[in-house]
Amino acid sequence: LNGAGRAIVRVLVLVAAGCGGAAPGSPDGPPSGDTIPYDTLGRYGLFGSPLAAQQPAAGVLPYDVISVLYQDDARKLRFLSLPAGQAITFDATAPWQFPDDTFLVKTFYYDRDARDPAAGRRLLETRLLHRKDGVFTPYVYVWNDDQTDAQRQSAGQTLSISRIDAQGAPVEQAYRVPSTDQCRTCHLQERQVVPLGPRTRQLDRPFDYGAGPENQLAHLAALGLLQPAPPAPDTLSHLEDPAGTGPLEARARSYLDANCGHCHNPGGAAAPSGLFLSWETAQGIALGLCKPPVAAGPASGSLRYDIVPGQPDESIVLYRMRSTDPQIKMPQGPTVTVDAAGTALLAQWISALSPAGCP
Ligand code: HEC
Ligand code: HEC
Repeated sequence: LNGAGRAIVRVLVLVAAGCGGAAPGSPDGPPSGDTIPYDTLGRYGLFGSPLAAQQPAAGVLPYDVISVLYQDDARKLRFLSLPAGQAITFDATAPWQFPDDTFLVKTFYYDRDARDPAAGRRLLETRLLHRKDGVFTPYVYVWNDDQTDAQRQSAGQTLSISRIDAQGAPVEQAYRVPSTDQCRTCHLQERQVVPLGPRTRQLDRPFDYGAGPENQLAHLAALGLLQPAPPAPDTLSHLEDPAGTGPLEARARSYLDANCGHCHNPGGAAAPSGLFLSWETAQGIALGLCKPPVAAGPASGSLRYDIVPGQPDESIVLYRMRSTDPQIKMPQGPTVTVDAAGTALLAQWISALSPAGCP
């Protein structure tokens, strides 16, 4: 759109908001319908000004998940926005259902100096899922160097990033923004693009909305955004923070669920492998225990089983997680570095599995 076109769209949005009761978001609400996708993130009205502060507009709610997807140590901000008067269909175990015109938003960034968050952020990309006519579509916006706005991309992009890590060492790195085809590899479940994080087992945790920590499910329910209302917090089955102090088994399984389970389940991209790493999978061969890989070869490092109880270094799961070779590495996708904490956790878990060895 040229400048004049944009102005006309904006006026239409204002008029629609004036007549219909604004959707949550900016005063004119996030735009909807045929105007989406916009070329720039700022046009959605999901955030206040300046955009880089990522302050959610009215009606846009921040949230966190319990077990995060590793993306080269990038940090993330997550938000959801529902159209006015609409609610999420809550389920204690199954994925939630969202109304049309739901926006789910995830912004990736690095602290410019990991020792000092006050030194500012380098925003990288903002990912959106927007639901229209019952279908979620993924969009990705890449932040400009000036950090004034983010531009829509679909082919993916590699950014050159300079930052200072937690040890005070300067880091020069490539950061890969995924293509929208890559979004689909992970978000496609049973041939439909779906949200992966916002569900009971990932959101049943505290979040500080400004008045001290509060359970996220209770907060959403109090706003009328979950129908039917969930039972009391802490009565529901949920994941454990992989970096926390919970039981080893639950932390490892939570890590696998968030980092592998969206592909490794019967409705995901890795279904033909028969290796199922989501939370529901019972301990056994489907979880990889003494399971021979579907395709032997270099990707297996000539190892025999996905997981050999008691023997992390004999386990293909760890061999592939420790690789950065695109033909071998797991998870498949945009990451370029190995998740040191994640591989250490899984090594600890596999070491503790018994009885040791495979027949
Ligand atoms: C390697 C797998 C993977 C890829 C590639 C991927 N996602 Fe996701 N995405 C996830 C997982 C897992 C979550 C939930 C965990 C989290 O938020 O850390 C998630 C969360 C999100 C969220 C927050 C709402 C939700 O579904 O939890 C949005 C929005 C999103 N992704 C959009 C995108 C878009 C757009 C792309 C492509 C540009 C993309 N994702 C690529 C796996 C992936
Ligand atoms: C973006 C999708 C995707 C993600 C995320 C992903 N995988 Fe995979 N994985 C695949 C596909 C597709 C295959 C089958 C082709 C192959 O072996 O390369 C596979 C195969 C495997 C295999 C061989 C299994 C067998 O029995 O044949 C292992 C082991 C594996 N993945 C481990 C993992 C682990 C561990 C994670 C999480 C840290 C993970 N994967 C995340 C897509 C994914």
